[in-house]
Amino acid sequence: MRPRLNRTVPVHPLLASRFSPLMFDPAWTVTEEDVELLLDAARWAPSAGNSQPWAYFVARRDEPDHKRVVRYLARSSARWAPSASLLIVTMAHRYVEDTDWAYSDFADYDLGQSVAHLTLQAHAMDLACRQFRAFDLETLTTDLHPSPGWHIVSMIAVGRPAEPRPPDRDRRTTTDLRTAPWD
Ligand SMILES: Cc1cc2nc3c(=O)[nH]c(=O)nc-3n(C[C@H](O)[C@H](O)[C@H](O)COP(=O)(O)O)c2cc1C
Repeated sequence: MRPRLNRTVPVHPLLASRFSPLMFDPAWTVTEEDVELLLDAARWAPSAGNSQPWAYFVARRDEPDHKRVVRYLARSSARWAPSASLLIVTMAHRYVEDTDWAYSDFADYDLGQSVAHLTLQAHAMDLACRQFRAFDLETLTTDLHPSPGWHIVSMIAVGRPAEPRPPDRDRRTTTDLRTAPWD
């Protein structure tokens, strides 16, 4: 007989306490070992056919690449993202090189899972991530020039949060998740 789920166990604290800060400690630096750990978590994510269709352009705040990507932030993200210890540009392998054949139908989906792993690993290290799309995709793509078939999807600011987790974050209910969009 299958064991019953223990409904008295709440959502795991690592998941329940994660949040996306808008204020980072501008003095906090991450080490190269920290970066390796974050990427190590990212690479263990599941993916369709184990295709692992993700890549990360990583720039620590003290590195020249940081200045390079900061230039493309939108006015909104430029207010908070530069103070994070790390900026990461995420990329998905959508197409086979120089063709319109999908490399994977799940490239963006799998990238998202990999980013979720990275995000939770960061939280376990007392860091926090804010993923964002508030940047100039076209000019950033021109500058970073991803390999054929690869596309920039998002950015992630990673750092030590300089604000507490908001107490009342808005989420749809579990009932809502089970009822919505089908006949
Ligand atoms: C793909 C993606 C794009 C996002 N884009 C932005 C953005 O451009 N600017 C921003 O301030 N936050 C952005 N966010 C952060 C979300 O607003 C945030 O995750 C959401 O409000 C839920 O809050 P929480 O992560 O603290 O639970 C983005 C998040 C994701 C996953």
